[in-house]
Amino acid sequence: MLKSIRLNGALELIDSHLNYADIGADHGYLAMAMKDAGVKVVQVVENKVGPLSHAKENLQDYDDVIFTLADGLTTLDSKIEAVTILGMGGLNIVGIIDHSLEVAKSLKQLILQPNSKIHELRQFLSEQHFKITDEKIVYEQGKYYEIIACVYDELSLPLTEEEIYFGPVLMRQKSNLFVNKYQKNRKQLESRLPLLGEEHAKQKEDVLQELALIKQLEI
Ligand SMILES: C[S@@+](CC[C@H](N)C(=O)[O-])C[C@H]1O[C@@H](n2cnc3c(N)ncnc32)[C@H](O)[C@@H]1O
Repeated sequence: MLKSIRLNGALELIDSHLNYADIGADHGYLAMAMKDAGVKVVQVVENKVGPLSHAKENLQDYDDVIFTLADGLTTLDSKIEAVTILGMGGLNIVGIIDHSLEVAKSLKQLILQPNSKIHELRQFLSEQHFKITDEKIVYEQGKYYEIIACVYDELSLPLTEEEIYFGPVLMRQKSNLFVNKYQKNRKQLESRLPLLGEEHAKQKEDVLQELALIKQLEI
C-alpha cells in the first residue's frame, strides 16, 4: 500500500500479469508497489541521474528491475508490455507518446496521470485511436487527480466533446468524488461570471461553455 492516494489509484489500474515500465519513476515508489503487487519485470525509466539513483537505492532488494536513464519510451526493454506515465504535465505526456507513437501503439496498456491539460491529453488519445478502457478520480491534499488507462485500438471511435471534458468512464460512473468536483467547479464558474465584463468576452464565452457542459451532467 502506497502512502500516496494518487499513486494507489494508478496501482489499482495495473494488470499484474503484464511487465511495466514506469516512465519518470523519480523515487521509484510506484515501481516498488508494482513489484509488491506481483509484476514480474519492472523497468524504471528516468531522464535525470539524481532520481534514477534514488530509485536504485529504494529498489535495491528487488529482483527483475531494470534501471534506464532515457527519454520517455525511446529505450523500452523487450520484456515490457505496458507503461505508467504519472505526475507530469499533460502536454509532456502527449509529447512522450507522440515521439514514440509506434512503440506506444504496440503496448497492451498505458496508464496516464497528467497534473494539467487533461482535456488536451484526451483529445490527443482520441485523435490517435487510443481507446480509454478505464479511468479513476482521486482526491489528495486538496487536489483532484484523474487517471486514464488506455490502449491503441485502430477501430476506436472518437470521443465526444463531453467525453473529452469529463472522461468517458468517469462521466458514466459519476462517483461521489466526480460529482463533488463538478459541483464545486460549477459554483466557482457561476461566481466568476458576473465579474467578467465586455473586455473579457473570450473568458466569458469559455466559462459559459464549461457551465453548459457541467449542467448537462444533471448533478
Ligand atoms: C514530478 S515527477 C513524478 C514522479 C512520479 N511519476 C509520480 O507520479 O509521483 C516527474 C518525473 O518525471 C521525470 N521525467 C520528466 N520527463 C521525462 C521523460 N521525457 N522521460 C523520462 N523521465 C521524465 C522527471 O525527471 C521527474 O523525476
